[in-house]
Amino acid sequence: MNAPLSTHGIGRNGNMSTVESDQFVMASHALPGGALGGNALAQDVRFVVSHGKGPRFWDTSGNEYIDYVLGSGAMFLGHAHPAVQQAVAEQAGRGTHFFAYLNQPAVELARRVTPLLRCAERIRFTTSGSDSTFHAIRLARGFTGRDKILKFEGAYHGTHDYAQLSTSPKRSSNFPVAQPDTAGIPAAVQELMLVAPFNDLDALRSILDTHGHEIAAVIIEPIQRIISPLPGFLAGVRELTARHGVVMILDEVVTGFRYGLGGAQDYFDVVPDLATYGKIIGGGLPVGAVAGRADIMDQADPARKGQPGYVYQNGTLQGHPLGCAAALAVLDVLSEPGLYPRVFAMADKLRAGIREVAERNGMGLVVFGDGPMWHFLFAEAPPVNYGDILRTDMKRQAALETEMIRQGLFVLPNNRRFISITHTDDDLAQTFEAFDRACRAFKAV
Ligand SMILES: Cc1ncc(COP(=O)(O)O)c(C=O)c1O
Repeated sequence: MNAPLSTHGIGRNGNMSTVESDQFVMASHALPGGALGGNALAQDVRFVVSHGKGPRFWDTSGNEYIDYVLGSGAMFLGHAHPAVQQAVAEQAGRGTHFFAYLNQPAVELARRVTPLLRCAERIRFTTSGSDSTFHAIRLARGFTGRDKILKFEGAYHGTHDYAQLSTSPKRSSNFPVAQPDTAGIPAAVQELMLVAPFNDLDALRSILDTHGHEIAAVIIEPIQRIISPLPGFLAGVRELTARHGVVMILDEVVTGFRYGLGGAQDYFDVVPDLATYGKIIGGGLPVGAVAGRADIMDQADPARKGQPGYVYQNGTLQGHPLGCAAALAVLDVLSEPGLYPRVFAMADKLRAGIREVAERNGMGLVVFGDGPMWHFLFAEAPPVNYGDILRTDMKRQAALETEMIRQGLFVLPNNRRFISITHTDDDLAQTFEAFDRACRAFKAV
């Protein structure tokens, strides 16, 4: 079904279709918490998606939303992009899957993408961002012969045990001790992870001076969730890791192909040893990648199996032909001249408009963000580290964001948001009206 179901404009009209209420009942029986993953919305704003097109989607009750979650940032091209649809349909006709053996779209993707990424002497495709960070960590351990990994407080690197530490602790850490985010992580794993505050080179220097000899890698998001790096921070991390023989893993799962074809490496002028990818490149299909130095990546050469230093890196679905065909279409679209300046300018307009509405309503919000990501917090200044976010009123934040969903703007409470290349001035105008309604409703409570 492609045609919009509703004619009443964006926002929820309060009437739930019997189709949607039946779907909630089925979901609540079959799925833990009635959810597909870690995110669930409040009862009165939850919905079941019917279909999407460009920057919008519709639920099975016919409500229309402007999407700023965008598949957790994967749908930079918007929903149901014709080039991606066509590439996937054509490849599906030639075969869906051949195990992680060489196939035409995957080889072509490797050829096209490697020259775009500054650190990429070699690339290995994976099936998700988590898959990418997990394998990058193993490669770093294999290469250095060291076990410990340092990450930054508040950074998200996926779902595996090495990633689910100090991602969203309730209290700031006693650095460098890591705090588990979930039950089920062995204490032995927790002890292998060290944590540092983002944007603080002195803290990193001091941890590396003490523990550098046992640390295999520093893994870092160039823009940590909603926090931009201070000038010189990424260069400092590069310099300190090199000095201690520590592999620098730049987690570009969010920034890759969003801040230009060369991602954050170009945008911030930093070249790590390894970089990890996911989200945008697959156009919504499961494609990720680890890219980096040949001497580190070549540990995963199958010809080295059985030899000391061989690192196992594999997956049934990796180099997936459908995903790689979609990725080639994504690259074609992203290579159109002027595309990035256009989406950056649209994001500037979005931030300016949201700021204007917030100020008019006396909301006390700071509106910020770099390029195609935008945020606001109940604070006076953008955050510099995770502790700054902890000090904001996240309950009020979630209440305002829930009101935005009611008004037809899909944002995830207490999460980051994105803009796609398909958002237009009309979408922004409707966004500002809806945000104004959300602010007024929020103040009225
Ligand atoms: C920076 C970063 N790394 C890794 C991941 C994990 O990616 P995935 O959800 O595809 O496993 C995410 C997901 O949001 C991410 O934002």
